[in-house]
Amino acid sequence: MADTASTAGTELERQLEEMLEIEKFDPPASFVERANLADPAVYEEANADWKGWWMKQARELSWFREPTLDVNESNPPFYRWFEDGKINASYNCLDRHVEAGNGDRVAFHWRGEEGEERELTYSDLLRDVQRFANALKDLGVRKGDIVGIYLPMIPEVIVSMLACARIGAPHNVVFGGFSADAVKERMEFSEAKALITVDGARRKGRTAPIKEQVDVVMDDLETLEHIIVVKHSGDACEMREGRDVWFHEICDAAAPECPPEELDAEHPLYVLYTSGSTAKPKGVLHTTGGYLTGVSATHSYVFDHKPGEDVYWCAADVGWVTGHSYIVYGPLCNGATSVMWEGAPDYPHKGIWWELCERYGVTIFYTAPTAIRACIKWGAEHVEKHDLSRLRLLGTVGEPINPKAWLWYHKVVGGERCPIVDTWWQTETGAIMITPLPGLVSTKPGSATRAFPGVLADVVDEREGNPVEEGQGLLVLKRPWPSMLRTLYKEDDRFVETYFSKFGRTTYLVGDAARRDKDGYFWVIGRIDDVVNVSGHRLSTAEVESAIVSHPKVAESAVIGQSDELTGQAICAFVTLNGDLAGTDELIDEIRDHVGERIGKFARPKRIIWADDLPKTRSGKIMRRLLRDIAEGRALGDVTTLRDAGVMAALEDKIKEEQAQEG
Ligand code: WTA
Repeated sequence: MADTASTAGTELERQLEEMLEIEKFDPPASFVERANLADPAVYEEANADWKGWWMKQARELSWFREPTLDVNESNPPFYRWFEDGKINASYNCLDRHVEAGNGDRVAFHWRGEEGEERELTYSDLLRDVQRFANALKDLGVRKGDIVGIYLPMIPEVIVSMLACARIGAPHNVVFGGFSADAVKERMEFSEAKALITVDGARRKGRTAPIKEQVDVVMDDLETLEHIIVVKHSGDACEMREGRDVWFHEICDAAAPECPPEELDAEHPLYVLYTSGSTAKPKGVLHTTGGYLTGVSATHSYVFDHKPGEDVYWCAADVGWVTGHSYIVYGPLCNGATSVMWEGAPDYPHKGIWWELCERYGVTIFYTAPTAIRACIKWGAEHVEKHDLSRLRLLGTVGEPINPKAWLWYHKVVGGERCPIVDTWWQTETGAIMITPLPGLVSTKPGSATRAFPGVLADVVDEREGNPVEEGQGLLVLKRPWPSMLRTLYKEDDRFVETYFSKFGRTTYLVGDAARRDKDGYFWVIGRIDDVVNVSGHRLSTAEVESAIVSHPKVAESAVIGQSDELTGQAICAFVTLNGDLAGTDELIDEIRDHVGERIGKFARPKRIIWADDLPKTRSGKIMRRLLRDIAEGRALGDVTTLRDAGVMAALEDKIKEEQAQEG
């Protein structure tokens, strides 16, 4: 990927260029001295007895009944972990810290867009979660019922998730950037009984009328009995008698004490929809004991987290898996003090993240490469204005990081003293799988380095599944791990087919291409399926295509991910219009808005190319590979399998025309 140009010609640019020569960065001695894991033998030990290693991690949690069984492998890929154990996630996140005398510790320094501050201690959270859990029960929500959550980054989202966990009602959180249509679809698929949402969500000084938007689509959903509304923006909204209730009112009316349900380790904790190769999102199902084991162990070892000392900030949104695992469950299990920021990284100003790091004394900071590239574009001065001397560890997640962005992060944000953990994982893996251990592993810019202890990752060839020593292959995980997805909600067959059919039922197919270097380090290259990664947001090309085609003027569409300096990949759509309609700028806006309504603004195509016809094989399959070549200005690959080779020539002309107009 091209590197961002805004440092061009500066002294910083010259220094970064020079640093590109450095192959490896060793953990600083001062860091190693105090690291949570500093004994290199851990890799071998965990490898030799991986079940025992995970059992040891599981024992760090509080169980109502300690498990004696590690993993049940009798019916792969339907693995079961710690299945005779009894546990509750909200108990592990809250009660046990309060019982240990740490109730006054801050769990979240919450900061609102307009500068409001709320400090939530572990005791505060426990109080609020118990009341809301009782309120849910009063509404008739029972163990096993699915509860939808569609909320912005406000404390109530944490309270809602933990209250569901407390009573054993799996949550189904939908990222606030998704449209109401997308929420409805996810509520429908999961047959959610209740939805927790908000009157209005604030974004960069404006308010989006969320409840109003939800009302428009949610009417005909029979399974959805209740909509619980958090009062946040204060904007008036309609409340439908018999269905809608205010969050604060039902909490006030509920009893204060709600003992946690003693749940089986394999009780479902949540469903989280993510994009796959087809238009229908996949409901990734995670259960309780194994998931908590994975997220708490990785949070402690990968971030070297020290409870009571560190101030930790994962600057993701709770609506993605990164938020589930590393804002909510991992950090709270470990008694962390976190920062939670309601808004965007550039509002009210482009240095807000760093202002908050200074204000709360952040020591560990975790974000996505796309955000780092945005910061590079905005300029180092926004970072340098602030005192970041308390930072001691940095992390990235979501997409491959280009070495220049890694070095900028290392130098400008980390002051060249903080190790960077480039963490590879997925919604499906639940927890970090490939990552440096910051006190043990030397890092190389752009590589996620080694598999986490106990995890067996490999790069294999497409055909036979044999290990690839040199060059690119498919990334696979060859052993079960506790935080792995258990299935796709209500779609067991699709689960097996998607992840465990290519190389058999014990090899998990990741869906990414990768290579290994001479030190055995992993370099993840990107998706091999039709999943696009826009600013770290996973989208399926099929999902966007189906949204575009649902526009009345569109006949057909093919969507590809095109490399993009800022967002990693950007959506580029080839669109064929109905009849002899002409493509106009107004129509481009219309189609983009339409996709925004169907999926969410972040899914709107950056580029739309009008196509009279699309390149197809003789069997009618669209050849996206050729579209990618043409969009990125590469020489066309093999076109002999095309039904009509003339289609590509016509498209090439279109693109030349587009460029002539721009240039
Ligand atoms: C990509 C996000 C390279 C990868 C936690 C994966 C990465 C997909 C990295 C999962 C990384 C995530 N280096 N690529 N450090 N981390 N990815 O489910 O393609 O939203 O398959 O989970 O993001 O995205 P998801």
